[in-house]
Amino acid sequence: MALTIHPFFESTSGSYSFVVANPESGTCAVIDAALGINEGEQGLNTDLAELIVDWVKAHGFVVRWILETHVHADRPSAAGYLKSRFLCAQTAIGANTPDVSGYDVLLSEGDKICLDHACGRVMETPGHTPGCVSYQFDDAVFIGDTLFMPDSGTARCDFPGGNPQVLYASIQRLLSLPGETRLYVCHDYGKGLGGKHRRNRFVTTVAEERSQNIHVGKRACMEEFVRLRTARDATLSAPRWSAVSIPANLACMSPPAINGLLRSEGHGHH
Ligand SMILES: [Fe+2]
Repeated sequence: MALTIHPFFESTSGSYSFVVANPESGTCAVIDAALGINEGEQGLNTDLAELIVDWVKAHGFVVRWILETHVHADRPSAAGYLKSRFLCAQTAIGANTPDVSGYDVLLSEGDKICLDHACGRVMETPGHTPGCVSYQFDDAVFIGDTLFMPDSGTARCDFPGGNPQVLYASIQRLLSLPGETRLYVCHDYGKGLGGKHRRNRFVTTVAEERSQNIHVGKRACMEEFVRLRTARDATLSAPRWSAVSIPANLACMSPPAINGLLRSEGHGHH
């Protein structure tokens, strides 16, 4: 049995969403589906969610799971929207997410995510947020915001409940997987932290991260990582849409409710 993986890119936030499918049983899981936010008149857009809906329908798949790796701060999730389109699917997020509501299932370490006979498992990988989880299907792991591409380092740890020591430990767990393990990231902006432009990427390997990640590669120790991460976080500002995205994603909101938040934030029409 081979699962297939299909990436989708949301360009307003540089987010990757994925569909993991079991072609044998015709079932799939959607991971980290993003809504877009357009500056200006249009506000929220469901472009990427519609692409996923069209793709799933064109292939005749049944969506079993709508999975989140964590509460994204930079863009609203399409989980609530996709649930309204795929009523039999279960929405799920990490059980250690503070103040979470509205999801069908809360997941903990070792929980199974089954696409009929093909099952993945949940790994708790906190640090960026307390509730971050990764999803492992065979030799592919969807790692949310933990590691990014080697030239882009790691996820910030300065959101509420974030902790660089804890993220370091989570990353070491990921890096202890076999070298050929594929790691699918949540974000890529088409350039490294050095600013050099390159093609967008969504998948790397444990071996590549171990040898080349600019924050944790070459066996960087925890002390070194924490110093680097803390210094960098001090220079970062809040994500543009965090005041809308965080409450929307904590409650698995659908677009009508999210549009209400956008309007009350005064972002909807200018
Ligand atoms: Fe994040």
